[in-house]
Amino acid sequence: MAPAASPVAVSSCWVGSCRPCPPQLRNDLCVATKLAPFPWRLGRRGYDRALQASRQRLGGRLDRVQLHWSTARYAPWQEWPLLEGLADGVIAGEVGSLGVSNMGPRRLREVQRRLAERGVRLVSLQVQASLLAPEAVTGGELVACCRELGVDLIAYSPLALGLLCDRPGAGQGTLRGPRGLLFRRLRPRIEPLLALMRDIAAEHGAKVSEVALNWCRAHGAMPIPGLRTPWQAEAAAAALAWQMDEQERLALDRQALALPVRMPANPFLSD
Ligand SMILES: NC(=O)c1ccc[n+]([C@@H]2O[C@H](COP(=O)([O-])OP(=O)(O)OC[C@H]3O[C@@H](n4cnc5c(N)ncnc54)[C@H](OP(=O)(O)O)[C@@H]3O)[C@@H](O)[C@H]2O)c1
Repeated sequence: MAPAASPVAVSSCWVGSCRPCPPQLRNDLCVATKLAPFPWRLGRRGYDRALQASRQRLGGRLDRVQLHWSTARYAPWQEWPLLEGLADGVIAGEVGSLGVSNMGPRRLREVQRRLAERGVRLVSLQVQASLLAPEAVTGGELVACCRELGVDLIAYSPLALGLLCDRPGAGQGTLRGPRGLLFRRLRPRIEPLLALMRDIAAEHGAKVSEVALNWCRAHGAMPIPGLRTPWQAEAAAAALAWQMDEQERLALDRQALALPVRMPANPFLSD
């Protein structure tokens, strides 16, 4: 059976421009930020300035603060004091809730346990998950671990930076810089997946991007697409109107896992 579908969340970058929203809609939003464990951010107070600056940029509201990546692979001693500082913020009521990012199940368990010892709930984990980075959710271990610990799994870059969307001209040099390079390298090699996504989209009267988002939801993860235009926000919201069935999910899993290419992995992802 497919796991329960998760909602789509919007990226924190978008929330900053949401001031004219009706009050009820604003209340329903989760305003979140992630703080990078740069090497100069050390100790329990290491995030103080960054946290203050982030809160100011977000208009004074901070529902969720997330450790941007795990330092377990290169400076394991750095991570816990920073998390302790964020936990202090939660206990003091200055921060709504606490999440982490780019952690595997082993580290997640340890962090969840240590926070629980302080009476602080670890609410969410962000990892890269998309049809071009499928292993995070198809492997099952991380999804099961999150479910067991009561941690929400959030899928970042769920559209593979726009590769998993209808974009006329994509891969033909319309994008510049590293993203353009990535598009030119991957786009010609993912056509079988896009063809299947188009078929499923047509079945549901939907867009290809909706299939990408709903595949994450079908795996129990909450996608946070990057949205730069009102049109893209509307397209993401449309994904909430339908869910894919088990057969569609399995067909997409098979196609994605058979592809010869993947999105670049985050080098800081811990085990
Ligand atoms: N925790 C981490 O380490 C980490 C790392 C990376 C990202 N993130 C988070 O993940 C979220 C979004 O990820 P992301 O921006 O990297 O990637 P993404 O959601 O996979 O892709 C976003 C891009 O897709 C394009 N797009 C969106 N909707 C579209 C549509 N309907 N049709 C065509 N193109 C569409 C836009 O491209 P254009 O710009 O060309 O319009 C947009 O910039 C952000 O909240 C970000 O903070 C977290």
